[in-house]
Amino acid sequence: MDRLLISGGARLNGHVPISGAKNAALPILASTLLADSPMRVCNVPHLRDVTTTIELLGRMGVEITVDERMQLEVDPRPIREFAASYELVKTMRASILVLGPMLARYGRADVSLPGGCAIGARPVNLHVAGLQAMGADIVIEDGYIKARADRLHGARLVLDTVTVTGTENLLMAAALARGETLIENAAREPEVVDLADCLMSMGAQIEGAGTDTITVQGVETLSGSRYRVLPDRIETGTYLVAGAVTGGKVRATGTRPDNLDAVLAKLEECGAKITTGEDWIELDMEGRRPAAVNLRTAPYPGFPTDMQAQFTALNAIAEGVGTITETVFENRFMHVLEMQRMGADIKLEGNTAISEGVPSLMAAPVMATDLRASASLVLAGLVAEGDTVIERIYHIDRGYEQIEEKLGQLGAGIRRITG
Ligand code: EPU
Repeated sequence: MDRLLISGGARLNGHVPISGAKNAALPILASTLLADSPMRVCNVPHLRDVTTTIELLGRMGVEITVDERMQLEVDPRPIREFAASYELVKTMRASILVLGPMLARYGRADVSLPGGCAIGARPVNLHVAGLQAMGADIVIEDGYIKARADRLHGARLVLDTVTVTGTENLLMAAALARGETLIENAAREPEVVDLADCLMSMGAQIEGAGTDTITVQGVETLSGSRYRVLPDRIETGTYLVAGAVTGGKVRATGTRPDNLDAVLAKLEECGAKITTGEDWIELDMEGRRPAAVNLRTAPYPGFPTDMQAQFTALNAIAEGVGTITETVFENRFMHVLEMQRMGADIKLEGNTAISEGVPSLMAAPVMATDLRASASLVLAGLVAEGDTVIERIYHIDRGYEQIEEKLGQLGAGIRRITG
């Protein structure tokens, strides 16, 4: 299994190009199931989760060609299987995103229940309840969600909890349902907006994406279009934090500053100088050590849970005491235990991590437990004295394209050890 070897101590400096957003690419690829003609998707990041999605669609019979620039041509017409197996869903929970489109377009879908995950229980009850309210007949049998419907109808859906993929699944289903669907307490994440923009480019009628009420007028058919996935705000934030923890100067290019307000506010609060242009963000820490920050994760536009682990690494080496409260997932602090082994002074109290920053960490062999936790261990490695080896980095490959090349270009001592 591959490992990453990081030699800490370098101050990062330079430009880093940002890839397409994983969490927008996955629902957009699932949405191609709704079309009755081929769809072209550009700016797709080359990631393990994308490969898994291509495999999932491929097993259904969807024809996909990928060119060297990761532009995907997806032809859903040869589809012949209406199922997502446990074997694939267990490796990527986002496979649940095929449920809504398959059911809306083909009237049937058998999708394995995802089960628990390293960061929390992560149920999909709201996806299921929403589709039932739209007329689907759903049974849970043998660990599978078995859904059938002649044609879904519009409904008023009030989501109990803000759910990103839940909103996306219901949005895709509503696009082809008969009549009007109202999704209330909808997720407002930029990736939801990107999916809605993609669906509209295919002919869907959607209003209010990006607010907490989305209105969809179902249409009879959707056709393939050409769509470019938005830049990854979490990848952007991760490289900016890499600049901050090393006292460096990093410019993230090809990104969308307006999607990172909460993150940039916290980076300024920790003492970084932030400058933005239309499609770039520059962080300059001017050789200083960041100041610790207090934050609480929340659905967008709040502080993203997907940046919590990276800021835990920042607080670990910052000046002063910082408090981080996780409100979205119940078990998203596995990285803290690994950082403690590197000398971080962090106490966990329920869903809050309180850290007293130390001037530097000590290298140690550590283990990645989920995607963002792995990213935070890379950040910790960048500021540790000595060589940090991170195991189980397949988690990183799920969500960060060419992380060692990108960090290497910024001057980090990082290399992949294969085998
Ligand atoms: N929830 C329910 N019932 C449901 C659905 C969700 O109770 O039916 C709860 C969850 O247990 C959780 C909360 O609602 O406590 C929010 O979960 P959400 O459904 O929004 O998460 P998700 O859609 O499964 C997406 C991202 C995650 C990101 C979260 C929160 C994708 C593919 N995944 O997950 O990304 O952390 O939203 O922003 O979009 C990552 O990229 O590392 C990652 C984990």
